Amino acid sequence: MIITVDGPAASGKGTLARRLAKHYGLPHLDTGLLYRGVGYLMIRENHSLDDPAAAARVADALDPSKLDQKALRTDAAGEAASRVAAIPGVRAALLKLQQDFARQPGGAVLDGRDTGTVIAPDADVKLFVTASPEERARRRHRELVARGEAAGYDEVLADIKKRDERDSERSIAPLKPAPDAVLLDTTHLDIEAAFRAAIEIVEAPRAGRTRP
Ligand code: DC
Repeated sequence: MIITVDGPAASGKGTLARRLAKHYGLPHLDTGLLYRGVGYLMIRENHSLDDPAAAARVADALDPSKLDQKALRTDAAGEAASRVAAIPGVRAALLKLQQDFARQPGGAVLDGRDTGTVIAPDADVKLFVTASPEERARRRHRELVARGEAAGYDEVLADIKKRDERDSERSIAPLKPAPDAVLLDTTHLDIEAAFRAAIEIVEAPRAGRTRP
């Protein structure tokens, strides 16, 4: 079974995807980490984030087994990821790796922005996870404060809105629900409730029910 979980920054898609993968015993790929890896290396190697040739080279050479999760979880890496993700050569370089992951025997869970539209359009279940920008900013702000990073709520909200706009309006593989994706709005759901709703969505076709 292939499950895709797409949605905007801090919507809860990553946590849901990890929980679904554990529940169904499937491997999980956080595709955002790949773009974060490219953005992070571009900065570390002193390239401009607007240099498409350098970005494509870095993406081509990316070794997913060497990604340092901690360094890639910062907001700076997320912002850099969002910028390099709009470069067609970067997306092309990362495509096969993601498709191969999705097509492995037994299936997989992938989360990102275009996993249901571009990477695995034939996925068995597609979730599109959303939450209001204000709620997503509250969650991200809480996370940053817990990690000891200094950030104001207003600044986090502005960053989230900017990232939404860039991810949704780019011409290549923009953030948008696949026509057959099921929308899951987590604005008023805690993680347990969101997880139960996600399981319902995955199980609905198997139980012969229509999806909620
Ligand atoms: O999910 P995330 O916040 O880790 O993603 C970081 C950025 O990477 C996001 O702003 C856009 C880009 N991205 C993408 O373009 N396509 C994906 N499948 C995943 C992430």
